[in-house]
Amino acid sequence: MSRKYLIAGNWKMNKTATEAVDLVHEINASVGSQNSVQVCVCPPFTSLAKVSELIEQTEVFLGAQNMNAEASGAFTGEVSAEMLRDLYVSFVILGHSERRQLYGETNESINRKVLAAIHNNLKPIYCIGETLEEREAGQTLEVVRSQVRQGLADYPASSVEHLILAYEPVWAIGTGKTATDEMAQEVHADIRVVLSEMFGESAASTVRILYGGSMKPENAAGLLAQPDVDGGLIGGASLTSRAFLGIIEAATTASS
Ligand code: 13P
Repeated sequence: MSRKYLIAGNWKMNKTATEAVDLVHEINASVGSQNSVQVCVCPPFTSLAKVSELIEQTEVFLGAQNMNAEASGAFTGEVSAEMLRDLYVSFVILGHSERRQLYGETNESINRKVLAAIHNNLKPIYCIGETLEEREAGQTLEVVRSQVRQGLADYPASSVEHLILAYEPVWAIGTGKTATDEMAQEVHADIRVVLSEMFGESAASTVRILYGGSMKPENAAGLLAQPDVDGGLIGGASLTSRAFLGIIEAATTASS
């Protein structure tokens, strides 16, 4: 099964809508008309409408960084799946470790969001990964397996091809420490085994599993060369066109 690489930029809480314009123009100019690698930008909510307009005629896709599981109602400060779809958002990052650690999200609460996303035709980018303490205690695979099983409980088998996972070891996020190519492959392969148990081997082979955590142009080629690494979820290096485009170039080379 050949899976198209997905390179997704998670801007986190960076860039005003005004600042987003220049970066998106540079991305469009360089990769806006290619589709050998799928490219997605995930700006803050405040820039979604602007970025949506800017990428309308291009091959660049739009993602959000979070959403609420409810359809509408008295949830001050929250945004629904339908609101995202209305802005032509295609992907939504769910369960990022920063949301787990800082905003109390759990496998169970994220599961409700994953199901709401897929029911609204949004492709979830479901984030999982162990902390440093968990890795040092030898618990990596156990932690990641339960995140996969619990976060994807009741996920509809008919929509498995629209599911994306992002393995982001917490100790590698924003630290400059990257998982080695072998460490990433070991966990990605194990995730695919769990997905096979849940959905069958053929369906599991369609799921893209991204790596995230200090990915940059210098280490992208080695990570992307691993058989179960199907792209990257990029934080810091997605904030400048030079670095983001460098990673996309590595994916283009790897896929050719
Ligand atoms: P960095 O690339 O800055 O380490 O962030 C990774 C990440 O959290 C992407 O979601």
